[in-house]
Amino acid sequence: MAFAEVIPDVLAQFEKIVGATNMLMDESQRYAYSHDETEDYSFLPDVVLKPETPEQISAILKICNQHLIPVTPRGGGTGLSGGALPIHKGVVLSMERFNKIIQIDELNLQATVEPGVITEVFQNAVKEKGLFYPPDPASRGSCFIGGNIAENSGGPKAVKYGVTRDYVLNMEVVLPTGEIIWTGANVLKNSTGYNLTQLMCGSEGTLGIITKIVFKLRGFPQKSVLLLMPLVTNEEACKAIAEIFRAGITPSGMEFFEREAAMKTIDYCEKIYAARVTTPFPENMDAYLLCELDGNDEEVLMRDAERVMQVVEQFQCGEILFAETAAQKEELWKIRKNISPAVNAYSLCKSEDVVVPRANLPKLITGIKEIGKSFGFNSVCYGHLGDGNLHVNIMKENISDEHWHTEVPKGITAIFQLTVDLGGTLSGEHGIGIAKKPFMPIAMREANLHVMRGIKKAFDPNGILNPGKIF
Ligand code: LAC
Ligand code: ZN
Repeated sequence: MAFAEVIPDVLAQFEKIVGATNMLMDESQRYAYSHDETEDYSFLPDVVLKPETPEQISAILKICNQHLIPVTPRGGGTGLSGGALPIHKGVVLSMERFNKIIQIDELNLQATVEPGVITEVFQNAVKEKGLFYPPDPASRGSCFIGGNIAENSGGPKAVKYGVTRDYVLNMEVVLPTGEIIWTGANVLKNSTGYNLTQLMCGSEGTLGIITKIVFKLRGFPQKSVLLLMPLVTNEEACKAIAEIFRAGITPSGMEFFEREAAMKTIDYCEKIYAARVTTPFPENMDAYLLCELDGNDEEVLMRDAERVMQVVEQFQCGEILFAETAAQKEELWKIRKNISPAVNAYSLCKSEDVVVPRANLPKLITGIKEIGKSFGFNSVCYGHLGDGNLHVNIMKENISDEHWHTEVPKGITAIFQLTVDLGGTLSGEHGIGIAKKPFMPIAMREANLHVMRGIKKAFDPNGILNPGKIF
Protein backbone atom coordinates (compact mmCIF):
# COMPACT_ATOMS: atom_id res chain seq x y z
CA MET A 1 0.00 0.00 0.00
CA ALA A 2 1.43 3.38 -1.03
CA PHE A 3 0.52 5.96 1.60
CA ALA A 4 0.60 9.71 1.07
CA GLU A 5 2.73 12.18 2.96
CA VAL A 6 1.11 14.68 5.28
CA ILE A 7 1.35 17.86 3.19
CA PRO A 8 1.08 21.42 4.62
CA ASP A 9 -2.45 21.87 3.29
CA VAL A 10 -3.61 18.77 5.21
CA LEU A 11 -1.81 19.96 8.35
CA ALA A 12 -3.69 23.24 8.10
CA GLN A 13 -6.97 21.30 7.99
CA PHE A 14 -5.94 19.22 11.03
CA GLU A 15 -5.05 22.38 12.90
CA LYS A 16 -8.49 23.81 12.22
CA ILE A 17 -10.09 20.66 13.65
CA VAL A 18 -8.09 20.16 16.88
CA GLY A 19 -6.42 23.56 17.39
CA ALA A 20 -2.69 24.30 17.31
CA THR A 21 -2.02 23.18 20.90
CA ASN A 22 -3.40 19.71 20.15
CA MET A 23 -1.26 19.14 17.09
CA LEU A 24 2.34 18.16 17.83
CA MET A 25 4.96 18.75 15.16
CA ASP A 26 8.28 19.08 17.08
CA GLU A 27 10.46 16.03 16.75
CA SER A 28 11.03 15.80 20.50
CA GLN A 29 7.28 15.82 21.13
CA ARG A 30 6.59 13.32 18.38
CA TYR A 31 9.30 11.03 19.75
CA ALA A 32 7.24 10.41 22.90
CA TYR A 33 4.59 8.86 20.64
CA SER A 34 7.03 6.77 18.59
CA HIS A 35 7.41 3.89 21.04
CA ASP A 36 5.46 1.86 23.56
CA GLU A 37 6.81 -0.83 25.90
CA THR A 38 7.65 -3.30 23.15
CA GLU A 39 11.37 -4.16 22.96
CA ASP A 40 13.33 -1.20 21.56
CA TYR A 41 10.96 -0.37 18.70
CA SER A 42 10.55 3.27 17.68
CA PHE A 43 8.75 4.78 14.66
CA LEU A 44 8.37 8.54 14.39
CA PRO A 45 4.94 9.77 13.22
CA ASP A 46 4.66 12.83 10.96
CA VAL A 47 2.21 14.47 13.32
CA VAL A 48 0.42 13.72 16.61
CA LEU A 49 -3.20 14.84 16.92
CA LYS A 50 -5.12 15.01 20.20
CA PRO A 51 -8.80 15.27 19.36
CA GLU A 52 -11.48 15.69 22.02
CA THR A 53 -14.75 14.65 20.36
CA PRO A 54 -15.98 11.87 18.06
CA GLU A 55 -16.88 14.57 15.52
CA GLN A 56 -13.27 15.79 15.43
CA ILE A 57 -12.08 12.22 14.90
CA SER A 58 -14.63 11.77 12.15
CA ALA A 59 -13.37 14.90 10.38
CA ILE A 60 -9.72 13.76 10.73
CA LEU A 61 -10.48 10.28 9.40
CA LYS A 62 -12.40 11.65 6.42
CA ILE A 63 -9.36 13.69 5.41
CA CYS A 64 -6.96 10.78 5.95
CA ASN A 65 -9.23 8.39 4.07
CA GLN A 66 -9.40 10.78 1.15
CA HIS A 67 -5.63 11.41 1.05
CA LEU A 68 -4.53 7.85 2.03
CA ILE A 69 -2.74 8.98 5.17
CA PRO A 70 -2.14 6.23 7.75
CA VAL A 71 -3.68 6.77 11.18
CA THR A 72 -2.45 4.95 14.28
CA PRO A 73 -4.65 5.23 17.39
CA ARG A 74 -2.81 5.34 20.71
CA GLY A 75 -3.81 4.87 24.33
CA GLY A 76 -1.45 4.91 27.30
CA GLY A 77 1.50 3.52 25.32
CA THR A 78 1.99 0.48 27.56
CA GLY A 79 1.48 -2.13 24.83
CA LEU A 80 3.78 -5.13 24.54
CA SER A 81 3.20 -6.10 20.91
CA GLY A 82 3.75 -2.76 19.15
CA GLY A 83 0.06 -2.24 18.34
CA ALA A 84 0.19 1.55 18.79
CA LEU A 85 3.36 2.19 16.77
CA PRO A 86 3.06 4.27 13.56
CA ILE A 87 5.15 1.97 11.40
CA HIS A 88 3.99 3.75 8.21
CA LYS A 89 4.37 7.23 9.75
CA GLY A 90 1.37 9.51 9.15
CA VAL A 91 -0.88 10.51 12.05
CA VAL A 92 -0.78 9.25 15.61
CA LEU A 93 -4.23 9.81 17.05
CA SER A 94 -3.71 10.13 20.77
CA MET A 95 -6.84 9.42 22.81
CA GLU A 96 -5.51 11.14 25.96
CA ARG A 97 -8.19 13.88 25.99
CA PHE A 98 -11.00 11.30 26.00
CA ASN A 99 -10.53 10.95 29.75
CA LYS A 100 -14.00 11.28 31.23
CA ILE A 101 -16.08 8.80 33.16
CA ILE A 102 -19.43 9.87 31.75
CA GLN A 103 -21.80 7.91 33.98
CA ILE A 104 -21.83 5.16 36.59
CA ASP A 105 -25.30 3.63 36.50
CA GLU A 106 -25.67 2.02 39.93
CA LEU A 107 -29.15 0.70 39.19
CA ASN A 108 -28.08 -1.31 36.15
CA LEU A 109 -24.48 -1.98 37.20
CA GLN A 110 -23.14 -0.29 34.10
CA ALA A 111 -20.73 2.54 33.38
CA THR A 112 -20.16 4.71 30.32
CA VAL A 113 -16.61 5.94 29.88
CA GLU A 114 -14.29 7.46 27.34
CA PRO A 115 -11.37 5.35 26.13
CA GLY A 116 -8.59 7.56 27.52
CA VAL A 117 -9.56 6.89 31.15
CA ILE A 118 -6.73 5.16 33.03
CA THR A 119 -7.87 1.67 34.03
CA GLU A 120 -7.05 2.11 37.72
CA VAL A 121 -8.90 5.44 37.85
CA PHE A 122 -11.98 3.66 36.51
CA GLN A 123 -11.59 0.73 38.93
CA ASN A 124 -11.37 3.14 41.87
CA ALA A 125 -14.31 5.25 40.72
CA VAL A 126 -16.64 2.25 40.56
CA LYS A 127 -15.22 0.79 43.79
CA GLU A 128 -16.28 3.94 45.62
CA LYS A 129 -19.83 2.92 44.77
CA GLY A 130 -19.29 -0.67 45.90
CA LEU A 131 -18.92 -1.88 42.32
CA PHE A 132 -16.25 -3.99 40.70
CA TYR A 133 -14.56 -3.79 37.29
CA PRO A 134 -12.39 -6.93 37.39
CA PRO A 135 -9.96 -6.67 34.41
CA ASP A 136 -6.71 -5.76 36.07
CA PRO A 137 -3.69 -5.55 33.76
CA ALA A 138 -0.33 -5.10 35.50
CA SER A 139 -0.04 -1.67 33.84
CA ARG A 140 -3.38 -0.51 35.26
CA GLY A 141 -1.83 2.65 36.77
CA SER A 142 -0.97 4.04 33.33
CA CYS A 143 -2.75 2.04 30.59
CA PHE A 144 -5.97 3.37 29.03
CA ILE A 145 -9.21 1.44 29.09
CA GLY A 146 -9.49 1.88 25.30
CA GLY A 147 -6.11 0.19 24.81
CA ASN A 148 -7.28 -2.63 27.08
CA ILE A 149 -10.21 -3.17 24.72
CA ALA A 150 -8.04 -2.92 21.62
CA GLU A 151 -5.73 -5.68 22.91
CA ASN A 152 -8.37 -7.51 24.94
CA SER A 153 -6.25 -7.29 28.09
CA GLY A 154 -6.57 -9.83 30.85
CA GLY A 155 -4.55 -9.79 34.07
CA PRO A 156 -4.69 -11.96 37.19
CA LYS A 157 -8.44 -11.82 37.83
CA ALA A 158 -9.33 -13.09 34.35
CA VAL A 159 -9.15 -16.64 35.65
CA LYS A 160 -12.33 -16.14 37.67
CA TYR A 161 -13.94 -13.06 36.15
CA GLY A 162 -12.97 -13.08 32.47
CA VAL A 163 -11.04 -10.63 30.30
CA THR A 164 -11.78 -7.07 29.15
CA ARG A 165 -14.09 -8.15 26.33
CA ASP A 166 -16.38 -9.90 28.83
CA TYR A 167 -17.29 -6.51 30.33
CA VAL A 168 -17.93 -4.55 27.12
CA LEU A 169 -21.62 -4.21 26.27
CA ASN A 170 -21.61 -1.48 23.67
CA MET A 171 -19.31 1.07 22.07
CA GLU A 172 -19.44 4.24 20.07
CA VAL A 173 -16.96 3.88 17.23
CA VAL A 174 -15.78 6.18 14.47
CA LEU A 175 -15.20 4.14 11.32
CA PRO A 176 -12.20 4.88 9.09
CA THR A 177 -14.59 6.42 6.56
CA GLY A 178 -15.74 8.92 9.21
CA GLU A 179 -19.16 7.46 10.03
CA ILE A 180 -20.04 7.16 13.72
CA ILE A 181 -21.85 4.02 14.90
CA TRP A 182 -22.87 2.27 18.12
CA THR A 183 -21.82 -1.38 17.94
CA GLY A 184 -24.62 -2.93 20.03
CA ALA A 185 -26.97 -2.02 22.88
CA ASN A 186 -26.64 -1.46 26.65
CA VAL A 187 -28.10 -4.85 27.47
CA LEU A 188 -26.85 -8.08 29.01
CA LYS A 189 -28.21 -10.31 26.25
CA ASN A 190 -28.15 -9.54 22.59
CA SER A 191 -28.85 -11.81 19.62
CA THR A 192 -29.39 -8.99 17.18
CA GLY A 193 -27.17 -9.55 14.18
CA TYR A 194 -23.39 -9.88 14.04
CA ASN A 195 -21.62 -9.01 17.27
CA LEU A 196 -19.69 -5.91 16.23
CA THR A 197 -18.95 -5.07 19.86
CA GLN A 198 -16.96 -8.25 20.34
CA LEU A 199 -15.35 -7.91 16.92
CA MET A 200 -13.95 -4.54 17.98
CA CYS A 201 -12.53 -6.05 21.19
CA GLY A 202 -9.03 -7.29 20.40
CA SER A 203 -9.03 -5.68 16.93
CA GLU A 204 -5.94 -3.64 17.90
CA GLY A 205 -7.19 -0.35 16.51
CA THR A 206 -7.45 -1.69 12.96
CA LEU A 207 -11.24 -1.43 12.49
CA GLY A 208 -12.37 1.82 14.07
CA ILE A 209 -11.66 4.39 16.78
CA ILE A 210 -13.51 3.69 20.03
CA THR A 211 -14.90 6.92 21.50
CA LYS A 212 -17.30 5.68 24.22
CA ILE A 213 -17.64 2.37 26.02
CA VAL A 214 -20.52 0.96 28.04
CA PHE A 215 -19.20 -1.59 30.53
CA LYS A 216 -21.06 -4.00 32.74
CA LEU A 217 -19.94 -4.16 36.36
CA ARG A 218 -20.30 -6.49 39.35
CA GLY A 219 -20.65 -6.07 43.09
CA PHE A 220 -17.26 -5.73 44.82
CA PRO A 221 -16.19 -8.89 46.67
CA GLN A 222 -15.67 -7.93 50.30
CA LYS A 223 -13.00 -10.40 51.34
CA SER A 224 -9.94 -12.13 49.95
CA VAL A 225 -7.16 -14.43 51.04
CA LEU A 226 -3.76 -14.79 49.43
CA LEU A 227 -1.35 -17.73 49.53
CA LEU A 228 2.28 -17.83 48.38
CA MET A 229 3.19 -21.41 47.56
CA PRO A 230 6.77 -22.40 46.66
CA LEU A 231 7.31 -25.48 44.50
CA VAL A 232 10.48 -27.41 43.80
CA THR A 233 10.14 -27.41 40.00
CA ASN A 234 8.15 -25.54 37.35
CA GLU A 235 6.52 -28.81 36.34
CA GLU A 236 5.32 -29.52 39.89
CA ALA A 237 3.92 -25.99 40.06
CA CYS A 238 2.00 -26.44 36.80
CA LYS A 239 0.61 -29.80 37.87
CA ALA A 240 -0.49 -28.35 41.22
CA ILE A 241 -2.41 -25.60 39.42
CA ALA A 242 -4.36 -28.07 37.30
CA GLU A 243 -5.25 -30.04 40.46
CA ILE A 244 -6.56 -26.95 42.29
CA PHE A 245 -9.12 -26.43 39.54
CA ARG A 246 -9.93 -30.13 39.40
CA ALA A 247 -10.73 -29.92 43.10
CA GLY A 248 -13.57 -27.58 42.15
CA ILE A 249 -11.98 -24.36 43.34
CA THR A 250 -11.85 -21.23 41.16
CA PRO A 251 -9.27 -18.81 42.54
CA SER A 252 -9.63 -15.11 41.73
CA GLY A 253 -5.93 -15.14 40.90
CA MET A 254 -3.68 -18.09 40.05
CA GLU A 255 -0.28 -16.66 39.21
CA PHE A 256 3.06 -18.35 38.64
CA PHE A 257 6.59 -17.00 38.62
CA GLU A 258 10.00 -18.55 38.37
CA ARG A 259 12.54 -17.89 41.10
CA GLU A 260 14.61 -15.74 38.75
CA ALA A 261 11.57 -13.53 38.10
CA ALA A 262 10.96 -13.20 41.85
CA MET A 263 14.57 -12.39 42.72
CA LYS A 264 15.02 -9.79 39.96
CA THR A 265 11.72 -8.16 40.88
CA ILE A 266 12.50 -8.01 44.59
CA ASP A 267 15.79 -6.20 43.78
CA TYR A 268 13.94 -3.86 41.42
CA CYS A 269 11.13 -3.08 43.89
CA GLU A 270 13.58 -2.45 46.74
CA LYS A 271 15.29 0.12 44.51
CA ILE A 272 12.28 1.92 43.05
CA TYR A 273 10.16 1.95 46.22
CA ALA A 274 13.20 2.38 48.50
CA ALA A 275 11.78 -0.16 50.95
CA ARG A 276 12.89 -3.66 51.88
CA VAL A 277 10.72 -6.58 50.83
CA THR A 278 9.87 -8.45 54.02
CA THR A 279 7.95 -11.45 52.65
CA PRO A 280 10.15 -14.56 52.77
CA PHE A 281 10.65 -16.44 49.49
CA PRO A 282 11.91 -19.91 50.50
CA GLU A 283 15.17 -20.91 48.78
CA ASN A 284 15.87 -24.02 46.68
CA MET A 285 12.56 -23.61 44.94
CA ASP A 286 12.20 -23.10 41.19
CA ALA A 287 8.70 -21.64 41.16
CA TYR A 288 6.19 -19.75 43.28
CA LEU A 289 2.43 -19.73 42.98
CA LEU A 290 0.33 -16.82 44.15
CA CYS A 291 -3.23 -17.97 44.75
CA GLU A 292 -5.97 -15.49 45.64
CA LEU A 293 -9.50 -16.47 46.65
CA ASP A 294 -12.20 -13.83 46.97
CA GLY A 295 -15.84 -13.65 47.98
CA ASN A 296 -18.09 -12.33 50.73
CA ASP A 297 -18.06 -15.19 53.21
CA GLU A 298 -14.92 -15.53 55.31
CA GLU A 299 -15.66 -19.10 56.37
CA VAL A 300 -16.08 -20.29 52.80
CA LEU A 301 -12.82 -18.59 51.82
CA MET A 302 -10.94 -20.22 54.71
CA ARG A 303 -12.31 -23.64 53.79
CA ASP A 304 -11.28 -23.16 50.16
CA ALA A 305 -7.83 -21.95 51.21
CA GLU A 306 -7.41 -25.09 53.35
CA ARG A 307 -8.40 -27.20 50.38
CA VAL A 308 -5.92 -25.40 48.09
CA MET A 309 -3.14 -26.04 50.61
CA GLN A 310 -4.08 -29.73 50.90
CA VAL A 311 -3.95 -30.06 47.11
CA VAL A 312 -0.60 -28.29 46.77
CA GLU A 313 0.95 -30.24 49.64
CA GLN A 314 0.52 -33.40 47.55
CA PHE A 315 3.28 -31.96 45.34
CA GLN A 316 6.91 -31.20 46.14
CA CYS A 317 6.38 -27.87 47.82
CA GLY A 318 8.01 -25.68 50.42
CA GLU A 319 6.35 -23.91 53.30
CA ILE A 320 3.13 -22.17 52.24
CA LEU A 321 2.75 -18.58 53.34
CA PHE A 322 -0.71 -17.32 54.23
CA ALA A 323 -0.63 -13.54 53.76
CA GLU A 324 -2.04 -12.25 57.05
CA THR A 325 -2.13 -8.51 56.65
CA ALA A 326 -3.28 -6.08 53.96
CA ALA A 327 0.32 -4.85 53.78
CA GLN A 328 1.66 -8.32 53.06
CA LYS A 329 -0.97 -8.93 50.38
CA GLU A 330 -0.09 -5.60 48.84
CA GLU A 331 3.62 -6.43 48.86
CA LEU A 332 3.03 -9.76 47.13
CA TRP A 333 0.87 -8.18 44.43
CA LYS A 334 3.41 -5.38 44.04
CA ILE A 335 6.11 -7.95 43.34
CA ARG A 336 3.91 -9.84 40.91
CA LYS A 337 2.88 -6.72 38.98
CA ASN A 338 6.43 -5.42 38.72
CA ILE A 339 7.88 -8.55 37.11
CA SER A 340 7.58 -7.19 33.57
CA PRO A 341 9.15 -3.77 34.32
CA ALA A 342 11.83 -5.45 36.47
CA VAL A 343 12.88 -7.97 33.86
CA ASN A 344 12.81 -5.31 31.14
CA ALA A 345 14.93 -2.97 33.26
CA TYR A 346 17.48 -5.77 33.67
CA SER A 347 17.82 -6.61 29.97
CA LEU A 348 16.27 -5.97 26.58
CA CYS A 349 13.63 -8.70 26.18
CA LYS A 350 11.29 -10.23 23.71
CA SER A 351 8.09 -10.84 25.68
CA GLU A 352 5.95 -13.72 24.54
CA ASP A 353 2.42 -14.30 25.79
CA VAL A 354 1.51 -17.84 24.80
CA VAL A 355 -1.56 -19.68 26.06
CA VAL A 356 -2.37 -23.41 26.17
CA PRO A 357 -5.05 -25.58 27.78
CA ARG A 358 -4.09 -25.59 31.46
CA ALA A 359 -3.12 -29.25 31.78
CA ASN A 360 -0.57 -28.88 28.96
CA LEU A 361 1.47 -26.30 30.87
CA PRO A 362 4.10 -28.74 32.21
CA LYS A 363 4.97 -29.78 28.64
CA LEU A 364 5.02 -26.17 27.51
CA ILE A 365 7.42 -24.96 30.19
CA THR A 366 9.75 -27.94 29.85
CA GLY A 367 9.74 -27.49 26.06
CA ILE A 368 10.47 -23.75 26.29
CA LYS A 369 13.51 -24.38 28.48
CA GLU A 370 14.80 -27.02 26.05
CA ILE A 371 14.28 -24.67 23.10
CA GLY A 372 16.19 -21.96 24.99
CA LYS A 373 19.13 -24.34 25.43
CA SER A 374 19.17 -25.31 21.73
CA PHE A 375 18.95 -21.73 20.48
CA GLY A 376 21.18 -20.18 23.14
CA PHE A 377 18.92 -17.94 25.22
CA ASN A 378 17.69 -17.66 28.79
CA SER A 379 14.00 -17.11 29.41
CA VAL A 380 12.27 -15.84 32.52
CA CYS A 381 8.75 -17.25 32.73
CA TYR A 382 5.78 -16.06 34.75
CA GLY A 383 2.12 -15.38 34.18
CA HIS A 384 -1.50 -16.23 34.62
CA LEU A 385 -1.18 -19.99 34.64
CA GLY A 386 -4.66 -20.49 36.04
CA ASP A 387 -5.84 -19.73 32.54
CA GLY A 388 -2.90 -21.38 30.80
CA ASN A 389 -1.36 -18.02 29.87
CA LEU A 390 2.43 -17.94 30.20
CA HIS A 391 4.60 -14.85 29.73
CA VAL A 392 8.02 -15.86 28.40
CA ASN A 393 10.59 -13.08 28.58
CA ILE A 394 13.50 -13.97 26.34
CA MET A 395 16.52 -12.10 27.62
CA LYS A 396 19.08 -10.41 25.38
CA GLU A 397 21.66 -10.22 28.20
CA ASN A 398 25.05 -10.98 26.58
CA ILE A 399 23.69 -12.39 23.33
CA SER A 400 25.33 -10.80 20.25
CA ASP A 401 23.12 -8.62 18.04
CA GLU A 402 23.57 -11.09 15.21
CA HIS A 403 22.46 -14.09 17.27
CA TRP A 404 19.54 -12.02 18.66
CA HIS A 405 18.29 -11.20 15.16
CA THR A 406 18.89 -14.57 13.48
CA GLU A 407 18.92 -17.52 15.93
CA VAL A 408 16.58 -16.21 18.64
CA PRO A 409 13.65 -15.72 16.18
CA LYS A 410 14.11 -19.37 15.14
CA GLY A 411 13.79 -20.34 18.80
CA ILE A 412 10.66 -18.19 19.10
CA THR A 413 9.20 -19.92 16.05
CA ALA A 414 9.86 -23.23 17.82
CA ILE A 415 8.10 -21.96 20.97
CA PHE A 416 5.03 -20.93 18.96
CA GLN A 417 5.01 -24.22 17.09
CA LEU A 418 5.16 -26.12 20.38
CA THR A 419 2.36 -23.94 21.78
CA VAL A 420 0.11 -24.64 18.81
CA ASP A 421 0.99 -28.36 18.90
CA LEU A 422 -0.17 -28.34 22.54
CA GLY A 423 -3.54 -26.92 21.47
CA GLY A 424 -2.68 -23.31 22.28
CA THR A 425 -2.19 -20.01 20.50
CA LEU A 426 0.19 -17.07 20.14
CA SER A 427 -1.25 -14.44 22.46
CA GLY A 428 -3.51 -14.61 25.51
CA GLU A 429 -3.68 -10.89 26.28
CA HIS A 430 -0.93 -8.74 24.72
CA GLY A 431 -2.13 -8.96 21.12
CA ILE A 432 -0.28 -9.55 17.86
CA GLY A 433 0.64 -6.02 16.74
CA ILE A 434 3.91 -6.13 14.83
CA ALA A 435 5.88 -8.26 17.26
CA LYS A 436 3.95 -11.50 16.68
CA LYS A 437 2.67 -10.79 13.18
CA PRO A 438 5.33 -12.88 11.36
CA PHE A 439 4.20 -15.91 13.36
CA MET A 440 0.47 -15.72 12.58
CA PRO A 441 0.62 -18.48 9.93
CA ILE A 442 1.73 -20.90 12.68
CA ALA A 443 -1.60 -20.36 14.46
CA MET A 444 -3.95 -19.69 11.54
CA ARG A 445 -4.64 -21.15 8.16
CA GLU A 446 -4.65 -18.95 5.08
CA ALA A 447 -8.45 -19.30 5.00
CA ASN A 448 -8.68 -17.71 8.49
CA LEU A 449 -6.41 -14.86 7.50
CA HIS A 450 -8.42 -14.37 4.31
CA VAL A 451 -11.64 -13.92 6.31
CA MET A 452 -9.87 -11.44 8.60
CA ARG A 453 -8.58 -9.44 5.63
CA GLY A 454 -12.15 -9.33 4.28
CA ILE A 455 -13.46 -7.97 7.61
CA LYS A 456 -10.71 -5.36 7.62
CA LYS A 457 -11.71 -4.28 4.11
CA ALA A 458 -15.39 -3.99 5.06
CA PHE A 459 -14.52 -1.55 7.85
CA ASP A 460 -11.57 0.18 6.24
CA PRO A 461 -11.74 -0.02 2.43
CA ASN A 462 -8.60 2.09 1.93
CA GLY A 463 -6.59 0.39 4.67
CA ILE A 464 -5.63 3.63 6.44
CA LEU A 465 -6.32 2.59 10.03
CA ASN A 466 -3.36 1.15 11.93
CA PRO A 467 -1.93 -0.46 8.79
CA GLY A 468 0.55 -3.33 9.02
CA LYS A 469 -0.76 -4.79 12.28
CA ILE A 470 -1.92 -8.36 13.09
CA PHE A 471 -1.69 -9.82 9.54
C1 LAC B 1 1.82 -9.09 33.32
C2 LAC B 1 1.73 -8.33 32.04
C3 LAC B 1 3.04 -8.19 31.37
O1 LAC B 1 1.13 -10.07 33.49
O2 LAC B 1 0.81 -8.90 31.19
O3 LAC B 1 2.61 -8.68 34.20
ZN1 ZN C 1 -0.07 -10.63 31.96
